[in-house]
Amino acid sequence: MNKSPRKFYEPLAIGAPAPFRELPVRVERMIHFVPPHLEKVRAKMADMIPTADVILGNLEDAIPADAKEAARKGFIEMGLANDFGSTGLWTRVNCLNSPWLLDDVTEIVAAIGNKLDVIMLPKVEGVWDIHYLDQLLAQLEAKHGVKKPIMIHAILETAEGVKNVEEIALASPRMHGMSLGPADLAASRAMKTTRVGGGHPEYKVLADPGADPASARAVYQQDLWHYTIAKMVDACASAGIKAFYGPFGDIADLAACEVQFRNAFLMGCAGAWSLHPNQIALAKKVFSPDPKEVAFAKKILEAMPDGSGVAMIDGKMQDDATWKQAKVIVDLARQVAAKDPAYAALYGF
Ligand code: GLV
Ligand code: MG
Repeated sequence: MNKSPRKFYEPLAIGAPAPFRELPVRVERMIHFVPPHLEKVRAKMADMIPTADVILGNLEDAIPADAKEAARKGFIEMGLANDFGSTGLWTRVNCLNSPWLLDDVTEIVAAIGNKLDVIMLPKVEGVWDIHYLDQLLAQLEAKHGVKKPIMIHAILETAEGVKNVEEIALASPRMHGMSLGPADLAASRAMKTTRVGGGHPEYKVLADPGADPASARAVYQQDLWHYTIAKMVDACASAGIKAFYGPFGDIADLAACEVQFRNAFLMGCAGAWSLHPNQIALAKKVFSPDPKEVAFAKKILEAMPDGSGVAMIDGKMQDDATWKQAKVIVDLARQVAAKDPAYAALYGF
């Protein structure tokens, strides 16, 4: 049974803020992961904040079990100590069946609920996971007088989660979006890879043999993540929430990271995770629309001011549908320009 439309937007606890009906407009080209238990990371936070669209304090995988509490306390400390301005403040909490999740959520909302924008929830398998956190957050928001709803971002990283992705996207008005978690997902599906995202040289197709059977046949490496990203983008776009590529673990291979990020961008994703400052710069470049595309899209909008009819621009046919495509690009460029003066200049806004 689904909730009635009216009930869907009611706060889940008396005194909790009303859920957002529209996603707040935010540029989130990269979600930058930091390990908050490390004092030297926290010490650099004030300098790091203006460089990233989102700072995420990671409490889950990659944080050692004996540092879980220090990471939670460190995250609260860095949340209290800094002004994040237009940079988003997120945390990735431990998963629902861990011994840490309840304290992660209760302590963080109590201490910095009014500063926290989004909780990233790992290993989401179905709507039941979202509903649990949704209710808990509403109770805590009410208890601590939180003024705006804390949003939920799911990681798509189990086979069951992928199977249920459409329902997860629609589970609550608290849903912000979703990220692909290629490492856990690979394990859950029994994929035979040991990498965190990206391609695999053995996932390929072979061109047909030529006339000379002795001549080498071309080999084309394929994208292991195409199907999942496409499925995630459709689930998110149809629910009015945002899709993200997740982590790319080979920090040194910026070329492959750029291609993986750009494929996600072209397919509809809003951003990706950054695990190293080099990946912040890369995500900025990839997830900000290309100035040449923006210039062409602006021409389309100008040629068809009311968004309908037909026009020829540089030999290419434009109509109502290409006007909509152009609007996606120009709208995003305007959002990026409003946040990032370097891009405002590049786009000529
Ligand atoms: C991220 O959490 C992943 O498992 O890839
Ligand atoms: Mg994971």
